[in-house]
Amino acid sequence: MSRFAYVNGSYVPHREAAVHIEDRGYQFGDGVYEVVLLINGKMADCEGHLKRLNRSLFKLKMKSPLSEGALRQIMARLTRLNRLKTGIIYIQITRGVASRDHSFPKNSLASLVMTVKHVSLDTGRQLAGKSAITVPDQRWDRRDIKTIQLLPNCLAKQAASEKGAYEAIMVMPDGSVSEGSSSNVWILNKENQLITRQPDEDILNGITRQSIQRIAGERQMEIVERSFSVAEMMQAKEVFVTSATSMVTALTHIDGQKIDEGKVGLIASALKADYIKYVETCS
Ligand SMILES: Cc1ncc(COP(=O)(O)O)c(C=O)c1O
Repeated sequence: MSRFAYVNGSYVPHREAAVHIEDRGYQFGDGVYEVVLLINGKMADCEGHLKRLNRSLFKLKMKSPLSEGALRQIMARLTRLNRLKTGIIYIQITRGVASRDHSFPKNSLASLVMTVKHVSLDTGRQLAGKSAITVPDQRWDRRDIKTIQLLPNCLAKQAASEKGAYEAIMVMPDGSVSEGSSSNVWILNKENQLITRQPDEDILNGITRQSIQRIAGERQMEIVERSFSVAEMMQAKEVFVTSATSMVTALTHIDGQKIDEGKVGLIASALKADYIKYVETCS
């Protein structure tokens, strides 16, 4: 089946989809993005993702080329054209095409690109956990803005892949965990507190993270937003990551060491099941 992409007003075959070489996304990484998960035709947390897209644009003094309603229409049409039922929708907005100059162009038109990808999600209960490594966090100081400049994240993920690990957990110079290369990190401590870092400029405030906070709250769990050290993480009963693509994924081994008994924990499994149920109610 042919794949289609959306590029600045047109739905085009994926292999022909292109932007200009002087697009500022290509030249400077001057753009923002979102990834929305689709499960059985339901867009998970679409409202939250579009809200964060607007926030990222605002922080970079960019304007959305289209309204939220128009973006939703394109997302829906692109998923229909690609007959996508379960997978991810990728949205990217850059400052557009302009002769190369670091300062912002006066009159460039933002470029909007959307693609979709089929992915087979493990929507059943997790049987096997994943492993992770820790790496130094080498990113800039505004990690709360979801920009397309992902080189440190790519380097971190590559380091994980080379060690056969699923995720790289990034560690700040003070020894605290910031987040995963493409996910937020959570720990469940021996007192059954669910701990995840406070959402400030040091991390991306994950949309999945926010839904999981709400879901865990509904389960009467104690949620604490604070930073935690690598040592505290290694002593946890459970460690898991959240993101649009991984939903809730248990980490059973970090840096070659077992977390607790090295098995997927009950809380991660339960939150994942609840999240999948919640997505069924999304529009
Ligand atoms: C660095 C980083 N942190 C956290 C997340 C999780 O965000 P979300 O739950 O909105 O997908 C992502 C997702 O791509 C990410 O790249």
